[in-house]
Amino acid sequence: MTSPHERQWWSGRITQQALPATSPRVTSIVHQSASGSCAFLAEATDGHHYWVKARGNPQGDQTLLTEYVCSKVGQLISAEVVSSRLVQLPEEFDNRNFQDPQGHLMRSGPAYGSLHIRYAWEGYESFREAAPRETLPGLFAMWDLLLGNDEQWLWAPFDQRTVLSFDHSLWLDRGESDWDSHILKRLVDQPWPMDPQPDYLHPESAQPIADNLWHLGSGQILDLLCSVPLEWNVMVEELETLGWFLYRRKDGTARRLEELADG
Ligand SMILES: Nc1ncnc2c1ncn2[C@@H]1O[C@H](COP(=O)(O)OP(=O)(O)OP(=O)(O)O)[C@@H](O)[C@H]1O
Ligand SMILES: [Mg+2]
Repeated sequence: MTSPHERQWWSGRITQQALPATSPRVTSIVHQSASGSCAFLAEATDGHHYWVKARGNPQGDQTLLTEYVCSKVGQLISAEVVSSRLVQLPEEFDNRNFQDPQGHLMRSGPAYGSLHIRYAWEGYESFREAAPRETLPGLFAMWDLLLGNDEQWLWAPFDQRTVLSFDHSLWLDRGESDWDSHILKRLVDQPWPMDPQPDYLHPESAQPIADNLWHLGSGQILDLLCSVPLEWNVMVEELETLGWFLYRRKDGTARRLEELADG
């Protein structure tokens, strides 16, 4: 009998499906940005606005998967992360120009949507350092567990949580190329410090996040990975390795979080 700490346990347990027809659909693009992935602000049928990352974007299609998994894992451990949702980009948007210099073209189908926060400012480590002390343990846990990269946070003064994690497109050590099973296997037990590393975490806020990591179940991770839409053509072997990576790595992140909070 294998345990979820072993890669073999994950084999054959992930069954993907097409994006549910009930998912919100993009109705119009309100603003096309010139960001690395050409994220665009869009209106959707559920009445919300989302910053959408679509297939065909200049940073590559794996961006969508990385964003989706990082934001949902952040939610699972109750870290302060922008809410996200998979949205359907209808066929009429197929081959639309992202307006980047290379002329990349959008592909319709499931896309990643980050719920638009009005009146939000974007910043780097100074924002993280100025975050309310209750917020930092969750940001630290996400960064360590999910191999944070290209530090960016949203400061949302009218949101209770105030500083939120977003833009995970280069996380999982993805950088400018794709992550793969080899990278995850190599880094699974490696600490992943922020730069600069916080020198103190508030113990009363750190412990609930550490507890969420200790208790994160293989079933929760499987449910998340099974919801990665079939249309994204992700190799199931890579999803299985990602499941194993998250499950095996989370206890180390919890331990590092507790150590930092202990001073
Ligand atoms: N949920 C959100 N709420 C408010 N603004 C957002 C949100 N998500 C993204 N934005 C805005 O859209 C811009 C582009 O988003 P994001 O940084 O995720 O894209 P990117 O292509 O990965 O960027 P980069 O150029 O850093 O690689 C951000 O700089 C920010 O201004
Ligand atoms: Mg960005």
